[in-house]
Amino acid sequence: MRVRKAVIIAAGKGTRFLPVTRSLPKEMLPLVDRPIIQYVVEEVLTSGLSHIIMVTSRGKSLMEDYFDRIPELELFLEQKGDGERLEEMRRLSDMIGIHTVRQKEQLGLGHAVLTARDAVGDEPFAVLLPDDLIDGETPCLARMMAIYERYGGSVIAVQRVRDEDTRRYGIVTAEMVAEKLYRVTGLVEKPAAEDVPSRLAIVGRYILSPQIFDAISVTPPGKAGEIQLTDALEILLQKEAVYAFEFDGDWYDTGTPLGWLRANLAFALKRPDIAPELEEYLKGMNG
Ligand code: G1P
Repeated sequence: MRVRKAVIIAAGKGTRFLPVTRSLPKEMLPLVDRPIIQYVVEEVLTSGLSHIIMVTSRGKSLMEDYFDRIPELELFLEQKGDGERLEEMRRLSDMIGIHTVRQKEQLGLGHAVLTARDAVGDEPFAVLLPDDLIDGETPCLARMMAIYERYGGSVIAVQRVRDEDTRRYGIVTAEMVAEKLYRVTGLVEKPAAEDVPSRLAIVGRYILSPQIFDAISVTPPGKAGEIQLTDALEILLQKEAVYAFEFDGDWYDTGTPLGWLRANLAFALKRPDIAPELEEYLKGMNG
């Protein structure tokens, strides 16, 4: 069965970004001039999926507003004759119909995915974590959907990380089946230094078989007392194949102030309207 639906998990508390996340959802932090959530939505759309389910929580309504129509802004731009901006604003609001599901208690990523069960139904689906942004020629999600269709098992995006960073991610052990593609043999969420089995870290893109919902339902609280998707995948693995795809492209972890700043610089340096002056400025800072 083809993947048709994408679940974007936007329910996290954003504690690594306090205090700004006291009142601003972290998904609304800007990368240059558009919020992080927009890049993720665009990745979904360019991968050929248009059915988006967003798992949100209290205080996240700004995100829904963002993709809504703003007639008075459109009228203002029309009267000003700013056709370019007007077109961009219309494109944004026409982009998607988002179906939102609320996660009422923050019980972990696995629990957040389970919240979307009724909206997803009995079919494979994509999961995206907006903290992770991937910039590459072909969208990472599109590559993973092709792998799902060919191999017929859940697919997790992975990247090799430095030894000192393994404790920040879910880590997989795996056997290579093709170039950049592995069959997963084990998973562990944020292992302690002495238990790190490999340097293949899970990045926030998944194609999941619907069997994952049953697996989550029997997953006990794990790391940080939360119901972890990584632990549910370990349970799924006993029944079905799970693959790991080491994608090409630049990966930015925007979940911390430093990662977010790096992503801002990288994206700004790709913008022809900003890059030349920014490069000059950065040279000046180093000099
Ligand atoms: C989540 C997952 C983790 C994964 C990470 C990728 O952790 O639990 O396995 O490596 O996303 O960003 P979080 O960053 O939400 O703590």
